[in-house]
Amino acid sequence: EILVQQDGRDYSTFRLPARLETVYQCQHLDDLRQVPLKPWPRVQGEGSNTIFVGDELPPLCRFVASAKALNQLDDDRVLLHVEAGHNWHQLVCWSVEQGLWGLENLALIPGSVGAAPVQNIGAYGVELADRCQYVDFYHWDSQQLQRLSVNECAFAYRDSVFKHQLAGKGVIVAIGLELTKSPRRVLSYQGLDQLAEDCSLQQVFAAVVAIRRSKLPDPDELANCGSFFKNPLLPAQAAQALKIRYPGLPVFTQSDGYCKLSAAWLIDQAGFKGKKLGDIGCYSRQPLVLVNYGAGTASQLLQLIAAIQLQVQARFGVALEPEVQLVGMLAQTAGATQA
Ligand code: EPU
Repeated sequence: EILVQQDGRDYSTFRLPARLETVYQCQHLDDLRQVPLKPWPRVQGEGSNTIFVGDELPPLCRFVASAKALNQLDDDRVLLHVEAGHNWHQLVCWSVEQGLWGLENLALIPGSVGAAPVQNIGAYGVELADRCQYVDFYHWDSQQLQRLSVNECAFAYRDSVFKHQLAGKGVIVAIGLELTKSPRRVLSYQGLDQLAEDCSLQQVFAAVVAIRRSKLPDPDELANCGSFFKNPLLPAQAAQALKIRYPGLPVFTQSDGYCKLSAAWLIDQAGFKGKKLGDIGCYSRQPLVLVNYGAGTASQLLQLIAAIQLQVQARFGVALEPEVQLVGMLAQTAGATQA
């Protein structure tokens, strides 16, 4: 029996009330083949990047298989194949226990393995794209499995082919990650640059966990979906012009002629840090994170999003785009895309 019915709050870590009629829970490819495609279901992992904001919600499909397998590539490199239903942070913990380098900077990111490629999760100088070898994708229409190479995944900042050409077309069922036994330390990010050059895998992992715990709310204690907006990317010239007017603005030069601005700083300067609208708030220790204190509503959330976008646009001329997926509303209302 693949059909389960449950409270919408259990399917999003933002925990807004939502009327969710249908959830298909699938363990095998054969289960996926039984999922009715009219209307096409929305595929979702643990809901750590999804907020339900409307009444017209599509059926949900979850692929929950979570097996993993290690394959030795050479003396140093191993290929870790892992199914989509595995919890991401538990995978990171396991890899660190095995003494395998590669995932430690991505500790404590909420959500499932299958969701990781969609937004190309990234933190502290490492992105999934840097470790990913392939993604196995099941197509609803052909009922076939396709292995996409890392190039075919078209990974970019919080972006991939799964948000564009393949959006809504099927299900990520597994991914392949390349890890190493020898160290590959990424210590460039502020906070990790205090670590010794020859620090251990455990030390990097512990430092990432400590930084995240100090500024990001635990979704089990305070409902949230992590960073709510993307850090805006501006052509280098435009970014430098802003930096001259606002010397405090953190600007990070990218390799492609663009600069990334700190959305947290823009929101902070616009005066929203710690502010509440009803039971929805802008988190006091990291204003890029919106939180639900318990009784928040979709309408309060949408009002706060609009107010932040309007103020940041008015003060700095910069458009903020949601990073979290808002489901059940017209996409253009908050500039969000639906996957
Ligand atoms: N800042 C402020 N005021 C504050 C807090 C921060 O102005 O109250 C400024 C600081 O100047 C700081 C800058 O914001 O330099 C950056 O803050 P942080 O290091 O927390 O990183 P972020 O750019 O806000 C991004 C990711 C996070 C990821 C961290 C670490 C996005 C949208 N967010 O946040 O990812 O953990 O870097 O790499 O890219 C997520 O996607 O859900 C997420 C948490």
